[in-house]
This record gives sequence, structure tokens and C-alpha cells, in this order.
Amino acid sequence: MEISAIKGFKDILPRETALWQWVEAEARGVFNAFGFKEIRTPLLEKTELFSRSIGQDTDIVSKEMYTLTDSKGEGITLRPEATSSVVRAYIQNRLYQDNPVQKLYSIGPMFRHERPQKGRFRQFHQINAELFGDPGPASDADIIIMIMHLFNVLGLNDVVLNINSLGCPVCRTVFRDKLRAFLSERSGRLCEDCRRRAEYNPLRVFDCKVESCKEIVSDAPSILDFICDDCARHFSLLREYLDNSGIRYVINHRLVRGLDYYSRTTFEIQTDRLGAQNAVAGGGRYDGLIKQLEGPDYPAIGFGIGFERLVALIEDSIKKDYNRPEIFMAGLGADAEKKVFGWVTELRRSGISAEMEYGSKGLKAQMKKADRIGAKRALIVGEDELVSGKGILRDMDTKDQKEIGLDNLVQGIINIIKNGTGHRE
Ligand code: HAM
Repeated sequence: MEISAIKGFKDILPRETALWQWVEAEARGVFNAFGFKEIRTPLLEKTELFSRSIGQDTDIVSKEMYTLTDSKGEGITLRPEATSSVVRAYIQNRLYQDNPVQKLYSIGPMFRHERPQKGRFRQFHQINAELFGDPGPASDADIIIMIMHLFNVLGLNDVVLNINSLGCPVCRTVFRDKLRAFLSERSGRLCEDCRRRAEYNPLRVFDCKVESCKEIVSDAPSILDFICDDCARHFSLLREYLDNSGIRYVINHRLVRGLDYYSRTTFEIQTDRLGAQNAVAGGGRYDGLIKQLEGPDYPAIGFGIGFERLVALIEDSIKKDYNRPEIFMAGLGADAEKKVFGWVTELRRSGISAEMEYGSKGLKAQMKKADRIGAKRALIVGEDELVSGKGILRDMDTKDQKEIGLDNLVQGIINIIKNGTGHRE
């Protein structure tokens, strides 16, 4: 029987990888400009790392982790997110020693045993950035400006930035009690999960998708009315930075995020183009986490972008082909085929994507292939062209044709590609 991939795990196929590579290259370019350096952490970590950082009561830790026991009986887990691992690496490698302020990014797969659906997978990919050692609010603004700039570079200007403040542990406790009281008066109309959540983690009720719960929380008190003066000042300065930088945002006091480590600034980038999975990216401040994992008491902020969702948005908005060979060379007859083989090899060695047919094929079949692979141009060379020393160069978009000298052909083609002469890119 044919073996298929595990449910919720998917191949990223050759027709998709060009777009993935382009997104990754643009992300690396933006991170570089903002002074972020790459870090690569293992996919497997001790289970305890995630339960202590993300929170025992969260959906991720309580039901979505891929956990196994190694031969020594230790629990190990495929990472469901990157932040915990990057914090562990910051502590373990004493990355704070020379300078506590460290700006790190990482790109790679994450694993969550969720119910697969459109935009939701069990293995998915994230682009993460984490900024350690600064309490903000300038660094909060910096990280938000950076992510919005990346979306802009990727041509995604219709996404909506939601921001909120979750306060600090002190003022959040006051709000939590208030919310718990509000929910307990209405517990009869809450779903079963939320009745439980209302007790141990009432803020989580804001995330419930059940209609009756959504209705209840629409009247719930706002955390922004409860945060302390310091947290309020932090949030207002952040907004000032964002306003001055021309960043548009929506203040969403019900934005709570699904991980326990957040404090103060939280944000999410949402879209209405992906159905139920409307969050393309999420992040926020997690000032207590480094200390909680036995590191020094340094603050931090960061974000994670869902790669699959990002790619789906781009595919949906720009129909751009990222994978077009610069040229297809069609040789007709044994001599021309050999010549073509040599020219294609030389072009490829010069870094130009060039294609050809391996076996002998007629002109029609070769042009069909040039079309199918999306070649920008085609060179046609048969016996007559070899004699005259001039091949035919066809623009595959406009179908314009012109002659091109076969002496020094490779250099001639490189010049045409570099100058973009006579061809639409
Ligand atoms: P998160 O909100 O759990 O945050 O995930 C970030 C993004 O990853 C989401 O907005 C979504 O686009 C994508 N994502 C999450 N789960 C799935 C899934 N099952 N399938 C496809 N995409 C998914 C975090 O993970 C935090 N560590 C972000 C962060 C970094 N906060 C501070 N630093």
C-alpha cells in the first residue's frame, strides 16, 4: 500500500518552494537591516521547558504537544513554538554576558497536535524574532515597526495590526479577579470549557469561538481600564512611537494570546482572507520569562509569523511567478543539440537559470516545454542557424523574435538578461 504523509504534515512542493525562498530572503534582509542575527535551536527540547514557559494550563501544553519518552525515561518534546527554546539558549549560552540586549531571529518548523484545517497544520513553520534585554517601549515599537515593514516588503498592506496591554502580574491580578466575578455571574451561559477557564484562567475565555461565550465577553470589562500607571504609560508611549512612525493599528482590549508568558504589550496581525485562522502573526512582551527559567532578570519581546499563512496570503494577492527560467534553448538536429548542451551548461555555471531538452525533440514539442516551464525567452538553433551563425531569440511573453549571433552567444545572452533589453521581466 502507498505510504502517505502523517495527517496535518505536508510536503512543500517544488512549485511552492520558490515563493518560500523569496519570503525567507526578504525576511532575512529586513532582519539584517534592523540588526537581528540568526539563531538555530534544536527541534527537540526537554518537555519541562515548554510546560514551565508556555504554561501548564494552556491548550498547547495540556493537549497539543508531541511528547515522547527517551530511553532514559526523560520526557522530550518536539517544539511547539520557538520562544522557549531561544530563551533557553540565551540563558544556557550566557548570550547576555557582553550585552544583555540581543536581537535574534529564527525560521523553522513547529509541531502542535491540533485539529488540521485550512491554515492549521500539525507541522507548520514560523519566522520568529526575539529582542532581549530592553524594557521598552521603544523596543516594543521597534519590533512592531519591523514586522509591519516585512509585511509591506512582501506586498501585504491589507493586514490589520491589533495591539493590547496585558498589564504586569500585579495589575493583571486585579483585572483577573474582576473578570472572574463578571464571568461567574454569567456561568450558566458559558460553554463547558469556559466554565472551567473562568475559574483558573479567566482571560482565556476571550479566545473562545463558541457564539454564546463570544456574546458574553463582548460586554466584559476592559483590561485597559485596570492596568497600573506604569503599564498605562508604557502602552501610551508605545502608541506614540507607532503614531510617529506612521503605523496603523487597532486597540483590541480582548486580545489575550494563547501562551501564559506575556505581559504588557501584546499584538497580533490579522487578516479576513484566511477564514477561521485569521492570525498571521502574534507576539508580545514576556518580561518575566527569562528569570522564570532561572536566567537573569532581563525583559524581552518578540513575535512569531505563521509561514504557511503568510505564503497563502501572498499567493492570494500577487500572482507573480518566482521560478521562471531565464532561457530555454531548443536545438534541432544532433549538432545543434550538442551546441545547446554546451551553452546551457556555460550559462548555468554563470548562475543563469537555463533549460533544455535531453532527448531529440521537434520544434513544436520544445516550444511547448519552454511555455510549460515559464521560460522568459527561448533560443532556437537548427542546422540553418549553425551555418548562418545566427540563432533566433524569442521573447516568450510578447512572442517577438530577433536574431542573435552565435559567436560569443553566452556573453550576448548574459548582457541581454542583465540589461533587460527587449524583454519584459
Ligand atoms: P502563536 O500565536 O502561538 O505565538 O503562533 C504564531 C503564529 O504561528 C500564529 O499567528 C499563526 O500564524 C502560526 N500558527 C500557530 N499555530 C499554527 C498551526 N497549527 N498551523 C499553522 N500556523 C500556525 C507563538 O508561537 C509565540 N512563540 C510568538 C512569539 C514569539 N511571542 C513572542 N515571541
